[in-house]
Amino acid sequence: MSVSITPLHPVFVGEVAGVDCRTPLAREEVTAIEAGMDEYAVLVVRDQNITDEEQIAFSRHFGELESYATPGHIRRRAEQRLGPGIADFSNLDKDGRIMSAEDRVWFFKLADRLWHSDSSFRPVPAKYSILSGRFIPSWGANTEFADMRAAYDALDERTKAEVEEFVCEHSLIYSREAIGFTDMTPEEIEAFRPVRQPLVRTHPATGRKSLFLAAHAGAIVGWTIPEARMFLRDLTEHATQREFVYSHSWRPFDLVMWDNRTTMHRARRFDHSEVRDVRRTTLAGHAPLIAQDRHACR
Ligand SMILES: [Fe+2]
Repeated sequence: MSVSITPLHPVFVGEVAGVDCRTPLAREEVTAIEAGMDEYAVLVVRDQNITDEEQIAFSRHFGELESYATPGHIRRRAEQRLGPGIADFSNLDKDGRIMSAEDRVWFFKLADRLWHSDSSFRPVPAKYSILSGRFIPSWGANTEFADMRAAYDALDERTKAEVEEFVCEHSLIYSREAIGFTDMTPEEIEAFRPVRQPLVRTHPATGRKSLFLAAHAGAIVGWTIPEARMFLRDLTEHATQREFVYSHSWRPFDLVMWDNRTTMHRARRFDHSEVRDVRRTTLAGHAPLIAQDRHACR
């Protein structure tokens, strides 16, 4: 079997055939998928009925897994349903029951329905995210993706020149605040202190520029907050025009991988009385994109 990729969207996103994600990949398969990620930014592999261990092993072909100490007050390890190395993006509690819609863990998850790039609120933001659909609700629950390379390319020349050196501050607090969830503990406020990210980044393999936007971005260095929020909202509207967006309608055992360096994504609504079980592995980026001066961030 050799890996082949066919486009699913006029701008980006490909569907991969000829790969079995449950078994170790050959070097040329890894190379083909990496090249596909560089070109398409989002890849869909259908019919991958994999275990958590197989998903972790598949992910490690493409780099190191992201590892960080999640603040225990959001969800302690003992309260988690899944083992280390894989993140639970379901609506289930540790016992496999649908969690209360008033659970603050659910409030944290809800803000993933805003456009974002995974871990942009960390000093070293994520490279790829790999999401496995294990159990899919009967209605809704699409994941939408937007191509930030196309969004950058479509800016007018004046705006391109203007944003070239902009530095934004990203925090999980900002994206949760945007949906009215402001009930953070002092420990959470400390853990999610803003980090600085450039607004324009260049892909290390392709050299293409893209907008590094996310709902986590809540300030621009040197700007007032209202000016910054308004500008970021305008830019996000530009970047998520329908022509730059692909909406993925999940089938059970789809595996979808995306490059957080070149895309944004958001979850879509579904019926909370139905189970949605999706599990994510995340690959770490290489280094901070710019120096972090923590004392300057408020
Ligand atoms: Fe996400």
